[in-house]
Amino acid sequence: MWSATILTLYPEMFPGPLGTSLSGDALARGIWSLEARNIRDHGLGRHRAVDDTPAGGGPGMVIRADVLASALDAALAPDDARPRLLMSPRGRPLTQARVRQLSAGPGVIIVCGRFEGVDERVIEGRGLEEVSIGDYVLSGGEIASLVTLDACVRLLPGVMGKEASGSEESFENGLLEYPHYTRPRDWEGRGIPDILLSGDHAKIALWRKEQSQRLTRERRPDLLA
Ligand code: ADE
Repeated sequence: MWSATILTLYPEMFPGPLGTSLSGDALARGIWSLEARNIRDHGLGRHRAVDDTPAGGGPGMVIRADVLASALDAALAPDDARPRLLMSPRGRPLTQARVRQLSAGPGVIIVCGRFEGVDERVIEGRGLEEVSIGDYVLSGGEIASLVTLDACVRLLPGVMGKEASGSEESFENGLLEYPHYTRPRDWEGRGIPDILLSGDHAKIALWRKEQSQRLTRERRPDLLA
């Protein structure tokens, strides 16, 4: 079973939206598992402190290396081969290619940062891979980890229905997806492109490819570069 372990200060945020829909059904069917562990269980002292002021001064608080390492070590199986991600706006951008790799493996361990960040030494010492879901700042890694898990879980065998491979989706061929239409044939004075009603599958495939290329050029020229 593909298994996800999340280290967070807010375990109540899980499974959250992943408990419904496609991922929720798959969770209930045992296709994947989710364990959310509270970093604070490894906190220090009467107040279970997990963070402290940054060395060198400055704003915010930093999650302590010793606390996070002990939470991580307690979460790991002896021969745990799962990649260890740290959600962070500083990370490498998450891509569909990385999502494919992750979903093809045994699962993931995801550390959700909060505050200003986590002590750099635990990133090095425990081999954490920093991953960002985009160039904007969230208040913590929890929502980013839900995004990452959703992207992975939908690719697990038996999760998606007929559209299973997802190979026609945006990014799978390096292009954005072409536009879709369905009934009614006329809606508020707008029709469906004639070619889609022609029954000529070769022409339809060509039209879709052109549309994909046009949309990618207009919206995401970086994908073509
Ligand atoms: N934590 C805060 N912002 C984030 C982002 N953009 N991606 C991943 N984790 C984050």
